[in-house]
Amino acid sequence: MEWGLQNRLSRIIKPHNNRALMLAVDHGYFLGPTEKLENPKKVIAPLLRHCDSLMLTRGVQRTSVDPASETPMVLRVSGGSSIIGDDLSQEDITVSIEEALRLNASCVAMSIFVGSKYEYQTIVNLGKLVNEAEKYGMPVLAVTAVGKELGKDARYLSLACRVAAEQGAHIVKTYYCDNFEKVVESCPVPIIVAGGKKIPERDALQLTYNAIKAGAVGLDMGRNIWQSEHPVAMIKAARSIIHGNSNVEQAYALYKKLAANDKSKKPNPNQNKNKSKKPNPNQNKNKSKKPNPNQNKNKSKKSNPNQNKK
Ligand code: 5RP
Repeated sequence: MEWGLQNRLSRIIKPHNNRALMLAVDHGYFLGPTEKLENPKKVIAPLLRHCDSLMLTRGVQRTSVDPASETPMVLRVSGGSSIIGDDLSQEDITVSIEEALRLNASCVAMSIFVGSKYEYQTIVNLGKLVNEAEKYGMPVLAVTAVGKELGKDARYLSLACRVAAEQGAHIVKTYYCDNFEKVVESCPVPIIVAGGKKIPERDALQLTYNAIKAGAVGLDMGRNIWQSEHPVAMIKAARSIIHGNSNVEQAYALYKKLAANDKSKKPNPNQNKNKSKKPNPNQNKNKSKKPNPNQNKNKSKKSNPNQNKK
């Protein structure tokens, strides 16, 4: 492998332990302002130093990432459809390799839609992107995107990952599934697992742990980090599994500890409003009153035998 390609790859997959923690913030390229990613700049800033690389579009990189950052960028170069359009699989290459070099990308990424209407187009595009990218020592990450109608099981994901690797992708991103070992075994290049939809933090850490145990080199997680109530706590907990070899219990305990001390969650100034109020001197007025001797007068009365007569 050429020096440049190897050097770029080693920014994404750390050579000392062959592991990778990628933070995904590219969702807007077809979803628009995704929940809790409405302001990418604010989301990215506190998380940037905790990930090994950041997966994003050129628009977000230009507008929302500090150019002084040393975090490697994985630049999404495909697009063309939106969530409200006809078919999400109708993607093309939208960013040139020259632009990726100008943006100092460490890797370029695109989706392939195996088994969908535009399968042919996306797979051919992957091959062409590899041709172009390798001229400049730029690695290619293939995202195995799954259409709504296709199941995310080991049989299908093995097929999609293998197709991507055969086209020359240097890294493949896919979803975790049962029997994930089978997907890893039949894919000759490193696999990174996407987090998927938001699930409880402990479950997302379990997914991370299972994926690593099954042979994935790491994670490309988005929603389960920045849609968490405590994104920094969550990325640190995931990191402790990927780079610190924590088990799920240890990682979740770390998450809870960091979440409990999360200073970024400003207390609501109205929350304890009444607690800080001076005590109302009249508040317990009646409590201090001497008992009214007549108060329970009726209760002590002998029952009237005619009371319930109709
Ligand atoms: C969107 C992507 C995302 O980068 C990928 O799905 C990872 O994000 P998440 O963990 O939220 O699934 O490729 O098309």
